[in-house]
Amino acid sequence: MIYPEAFSVFLVSLLVGSSKAFFDIGLSTKCVTIPKDLGLCNDIGYSEMRLPNLMGHTSLAEVVPKSEEWKSLIQTGCHPYARTFLCSLFAPVCMDTFILPCRSMCVAVRDSCAPVLSCHGHSWPEILDCDRFPAGEDMCLATLSKEYIYMYRDLPKPTCQSCPTIEDSVQTKTALEAFCENDFALKVKLSKRKTPSETHQYEIDGQVDFISQGDLLPYDTRNMISQWMLINEKCAEKMIRNPRSLLFIITGSVHHGKVTITKIFHWQKRDSNLTLAVRKWRYHKC
Ligand SMILES: *[C@@H]1O[C@H](CO)[C@@H](O)[C@H](O)[C@H]1NC(C)=O
Repeated sequence: MIYPEAFSVFLVSLLVGSSKAFFDIGLSTKCVTIPKDLGLCNDIGYSEMRLPNLMGHTSLAEVVPKSEEWKSLIQTGCHPYARTFLCSLFAPVCMDTFILPCRSMCVAVRDSCAPVLSCHGHSWPEILDCDRFPAGEDMCLATLSKEYIYMYRDLPKPTCQSCPTIEDSVQTKTALEAFCENDFALKVKLSKRKTPSETHQYEIDGQVDFISQGDLLPYDTRNMISQWMLINEKCAEKMIRNPRSLLFIITGSVHHGKVTITKIFHWQKRDSNLTLAVRKWRYHKC
């Protein structure tokens, strides 16, 4: 079993142990330095990769743009091993044999990340078919311990969901009812920014304030909202139509570690109804 964090240990065992290769590395492959602009696999823990890679790309000019498409999937935090998995294919470590990800790693990443892809209208690509990868756990890249995944699972994770109506005006009573019915309510300022590739990126301005916290962890909430906007990009797009930052109150629930946003109130300037609701909430009995 090979752990990504223990490449050096593996290297030793590979040199002294058997060397059953998955692929014949012909003379046609070469090692190149992982370039800075291969953002997906920078700082992956090794500096050289093999070309052609396991995605069938033959040059860096092909690898770099193709890998870009996967960066936002990684940023959604769909699986802690998503990056390791993809980089073992996009930028295979330069050793005397190709090291494939184990099928179990592929399945774990696919099961968590395919729903995010499908939220964006894409299916899990054929080239990442898990049956391509070795079924055993010898001589392939395996996920670390069950505990690690376990810990990660404890953080409430956003999911692909249908976009709640974005309410531009609300009565104080309705807002208070929404706070009562949900696990958490947050006050958050959002804006959008153009990326170099002419798409938009949605961002949180300033801090996220809790009206009620529920099961959310203060240190992870910002991250959770960012990931929610990446997964539910269409919804973020609906919420944030112009470049100015807008203030929202967002309510939601956490069920089996999955976060669902249930209500979105756009807090317009001079909207005293929401101001009053937030003030009353402290003494409110549901
Ligand atoms: C505030 O609530 C009142 C009723 O309580 C409603 O008539 C009014 O439209 C609300 N204002 C806004 C800005 O939502």
